[in-house]
Amino acid sequence: MKYGILRYPHQNTRYFDATKHLLVGELTVIANALNITIENDNYEVINGVELYCFEMPPIDEMVLKALHQISSNFILFEILGDMLRPLNTTKTSYFKEDLSSILKYSGKTNEDFTAMMINVGIFSSDFAKNFNQPLNILDPMCGRGTTLYQGLIMGYNVSGVEINSKDCEEIDKYMKRYLKYHKYKHEASHQTIIINKQKKGIKYTIETADTAENYKNKNRRIVQFASGNTLDVNDYYKKDSFHVIATDIPYGVQHSGTSKSQPIDMTKLLESAALAWHRVLKKGGTVVIAYNNFTLKHESLQAIFEKTGYKVLREAPYDGFEHWVEQAVNRDIFIAKK
Ligand SMILES: C[S@@+](CC[C@H](N)C(=O)[O-])C[C@H]1O[C@@H](n2cnc3c(N)ncnc32)[C@H](O)[C@@H]1O
Repeated sequence: MKYGILRYPHQNTRYFDATKHLLVGELTVIANALNITIENDNYEVINGVELYCFEMPPIDEMVLKALHQISSNFILFEILGDMLRPLNTTKTSYFKEDLSSILKYSGKTNEDFTAMMINVGIFSSDFAKNFNQPLNILDPMCGRGTTLYQGLIMGYNVSGVEINSKDCEEIDKYMKRYLKYHKYKHEASHQTIIINKQKKGIKYTIETADTAENYKNKNRRIVQFASGNTLDVNDYYKKDSFHVIATDIPYGVQHSGTSKSQPIDMTKLLESAALAWHRVLKKGGTVVIAYNNFTLKHESLQAIFEKTGYKVLREAPYDGFEHWVEQAVNRDIFIAKK
């Protein structure tokens, strides 16, 4: 059968251009994980509409769900000659998509790109076939929470660590306001974490669900985030907790309005972080890191993660995610498996 994907008409035209190849990479990772052979894939213009077209065996319900989850998939069509039949009737998300899109702030990671990182992580892990289960996703440098929001939209349990305590306060305030406004049932709490009599950061927990019935039946999702250092991730979360770690690390570029602190030596930080993250990641789980390849090289990341015992994924399609963001940022993703 022949299918075609119309990409989301992204406001950021640079990113929209990049989704042309990012979509191919993301779909290939998903198809490989689900043992689906894709043939004759190409961009085609059909009656004035540009679609990424491909052939694959007739899509069953599980594959359809996986394709719906592709971050730049706006509409999936079945193609019969020049007739396009949309297959979006079953396209749903666990939480409304505006949870992450309404927030605008300097240094925010593009939410569609974040969804792509989560997908690449899940479908490259040993848990790919459980992608429609409430897997546990961690962003160990979560900023003001895009990965948390995006993961929740996709129906996952989401956790974070962020060194800037103000960001965690913002996430807490925003989540509570959002859930209250949209009448999602929820329960929020926070506690100060004390390890060996030493005061660590604050850990926030919010339990919620897509419907009141699911909430009542305890079929909930958990949103957790801790204000603290990523190197202390083991103080906040249990060993072997997460199926995927996905994070957008600092780019070594100062954005106006952000803190005036010294740029971080990422290589040094990651040498210790790789080990701390390894402990909280499940075996077969993956780490996906977005990085600026003007300031950090894949080879350095590879050396750090291999030394810590991860298997680095670099062969195609994993070599197809590099894209231009701005003059000082050329972004790529690094993927490694425990
Ligand atoms: C690129 S930003 C992440 C932005 C986030 N994805 C968002 O959309 O809000 C990187 C984040 O890493 C945080 N960070 C840097 N060093 C850290 C550390 N040692 N532990 C925890 N977080 C850290 C920074 O404070 C910053 O918020």
